[in-house]
Amino acid sequence: MSDHVTIIDHPLVQHKLTEMRKKHTSTAGFRRLLHEIAHLLAYEVMRDLPLQKTQIETPLEPMMAPTIEGKKLVLVSILRAGDGLLRGVLDLVPQARVGHIGLYRDHKTLEAVEYYLKVPSDIGDRAVIVVDPMLATGNSSSAALTRLKEVGAKNMKFLCLLAAPEGIEVLKKDHPDVPIYTAAVDEKLDEKGYIRPGLGDAGDRMFGTK
Ligand code: URA
Repeated sequence: MSDHVTIIDHPLVQHKLTEMRKKHTSTAGFRRLLHEIAHLLAYEVMRDLPLQKTQIETPLEPMMAPTIEGKKLVLVSILRAGDGLLRGVLDLVPQARVGHIGLYRDHKTLEAVEYYLKVPSDIGDRAVIVVDPMLATGNSSSAALTRLKEVGAKNMKFLCLLAAPEGIEVLKKDHPDVPIYTAAVDEKLDEKGYIRPGLGDAGDRMFGTK
């Protein structure tokens, strides 16, 4: 697509995403698949983390072995659906710090309104991965990235499961410095702001709140 967007096209990711899209997939099934797919997405989004050599002792001899360089990552979940993706990503980096940002989408204007923000105070010294399964209009994601920059975040990536072309354009325009990682880019947004063909409301499907 472009350097700005990485589509994670691994067959396991694509297969699991298809299972998640199916309308008869249960809440438990959706949650399990989201957890599994989060591992695979996390693996890709962290592919270029810098490494440093550290002295360790194997049972046989000392060696210089690679470890991830720098301070622990920060994962920021955009509430509430971001939490579904967060858990699987955290499995891979259990030492990561976690931030939350709460934005709701005004259903009339489709604009983002902030209601919660809590992130580590040294977020500016850390690499940040912002997670939200659905990049739809891009309004709430863009607003979240703007707020995170205001509180100091400098080095961010945006990880989602599914994106609409419209949302990608908004993020590209507002935050050209933040690369996007997604499993797929669907056809379009509908008039209610849903991604089509999509998978429905990700929050409702993972929490069973429909
Ligand atoms: N959020 C969702 O959960 N689903 C969509 O299709 C769009 C936004």
